[in-house]
Amino acid sequence: MSKLAIIGGSGLTHLAGLEISHRQMMYTPYGEPSAPIIHGNYCGQSVIFLARHGARHTIPPHQINYRANIWCLKELGVTTVIAIAAVGSINSAMQIKDLVIPHQLIDYTWSREHTFFDQSLTQVTHIDFTEPYCESLRQQLLTAAQSLELKVHSQGIYGATQGPRLETAAEINRMAKDGCDIVGMTGMPEAALARELELCYATCAVIANWAAGLGTVPITLTDIEMTLADGIQQVRRLLAEVIKRL
Ligand code: HPA
Repeated sequence: MSKLAIIGGSGLTHLAGLEISHRQMMYTPYGEPSAPIIHGNYCGQSVIFLARHGARHTIPPHQINYRANIWCLKELGVTTVIAIAAVGSINSAMQIKDLVIPHQLIDYTWSREHTFFDQSLTQVTHIDFTEPYCESLRQQLLTAAQSLELKVHSQGIYGATQGPRLETAAEINRMAKDGCDIVGMTGMPEAALARELELCYATCAVIANWAAGLGTVPITLTDIEMTLADGIQQVRRLLAEVIKRL
């Protein structure tokens, strides 16, 4: 049987409508996760929720303990992870507040603890990461989004940057040439760690802003937050629908 976890990103530090049964503090060989793990019931299904940036949104992308977060979910018997992420758009067809279910990623992050396979090894391990996201979960997210007539893009290449600063215009230009459609700071190493622990993991990205150099106005946190407040409503509807169907 599948057991679902939702990792909430910026704009989704708590899941409205989740009937919380209990909060669980966890400790892992890698340290503590971003926040207590929330157990509850959402739309009739048992769900686990974790706020990636902490319960009060205080942990910047490069300081998130991705290993502890993913390890906790595995330890709790989670099989399926929907990761919510705010992103900037590089592709002019992907507009503010649209949803994107990425199918590929490029990792530009550095010096993050990015693997479980570096200590006490009996054998060097290389995971297959050709397709970084779980295709069946991607399709379930897409079917649910389409049934709600949400504006959703069925493919996209996610470029993961280090942050916490936003990118320069030249960096975004280079990422566009690399083929990136969207840019965010938390997609890696989260996706790879989930694969290392054999979790079915997919991302639902919400476009919060035009990436650096592509908009008509400078990117401000206030604008991003205002856009996200709206965009996240769609994510909540999508989660309710997908959970009913899982
Ligand atoms: N760049 C990186 N991460 C982001 C952005 C961005 O423009 N918007 C939201 N998260």
